Amino acid sequence: DWIMSDYIAEAVEKIRQQVGNEEVILGLSGGVDSSVAAALLHRAIGDQLTCVFVDHGLLRLNEAEMVMDMFARNMGVKVIHVDASAQFMGKLAGETDPEVKRKIIGKEFVEVFQSESGKLSNAKWLAQGTIYPDVVESGGAKSKKATTIKSHHNVGGLPDTLHLKLLEPLRELFKDEVRALGVALGLPHNMVYRHPFPGPGLGVRILGEVKKDYADLLRRADAIFIEELHKTVDENSGKTWYELTSQAFAVFLPVKSVGVMGDGRTYDYVVALRAVQTQDFMTAHWAHLPYDLLGRVSNRIINEVRGINRVVYDVSGKPPATIEWE
Ligand code: XMP
Repeated sequence: DWIMSDYIAEAVEKIRQQVGNEEVILGLSGGVDSSVAAALLHRAIGDQLTCVFVDHGLLRLNEAEMVMDMFARNMGVKVIHVDASAQFMGKLAGETDPEVKRKIIGKEFVEVFQSESGKLSNAKWLAQGTIYPDVVESGGAKSKKATTIKSHHNVGGLPDTLHLKLLEPLRELFKDEVRALGVALGLPHNMVYRHPFPGPGLGVRILGEVKKDYADLLRRADAIFIEELHKTVDENSGKTWYELTSQAFAVFLPVKSVGVMGDGRTYDYVVALRAVQTQDFMTAHWAHLPYDLLGRVSNRIINEVRGINRVVYDVSGKPPATIEWE
């Protein structure tokens, strides 16, 4: 609509004024905020923008391909794709403590990002997808976890060492405005309306030690769950169960249980499904997903993902449970 196109024209002009002919770096995560920031900056300054996309090996199924397809191939954005998964797995080996795992992932992320952006010697700006609620949150008192979220998400510490100026084009926008902006800039609806995904990714959805094999199983189980949530429409509201939930995902439990398959006995891992409804993610209810949906997801995971023979559903609210399992 015309209001949004006016907004875009104004934002584009402001970015051009600010940046001039200097180069900008942006850490692209595949999440809504950094994606919309990338699309807006690309509209404003085209090739003066370079995105760095770090794959820590803890992303969802086909996430890297999806990001590269959309930004590099479809939109012509310059994106440096860093596959650092082996490096992250190496650092995480043997570690089981959730907060230590978060710290390792955050620190490694900053290092990889820093070394990649250090190669772009002409860059003068570091762009971030900071939105208005982030600005408010970092102003006030925050929990330990909120600090972790910030330091990882917004790549804290980079401006000091890289001597970059900070560019935050979404700083004044609320989440729903960021989404509307993303759609107006041509990003696909389903990418702009995605559930949030934590910075440490599957690292906090694989309980205990993170291993590549576990991540590969979990990615496939999670993709099946998400696909079925998209496909299943609630008759009362006419909405899909993906739309009716605020966050949904699979969790890998490194626990083996016995099953039967054909004439044989299996002894394989367990996956838990988590789906919540919430306004602010501070408190949440477990989603009352239809039994037939849960049944389909369970059958598909057990039949299609060899190595998992049992699926359970998490019926815990927050509080006292958290949304993530770690
Ligand atoms: P919890 O598990 O604390 O999660 O109920 C609340 C929301 O925060 C997300 N979350 C994180 N996001 N880095 C992030 O970027 C983190 O370390 C992290 N831990 C939790 C979680 O996905 C949920 O949306």
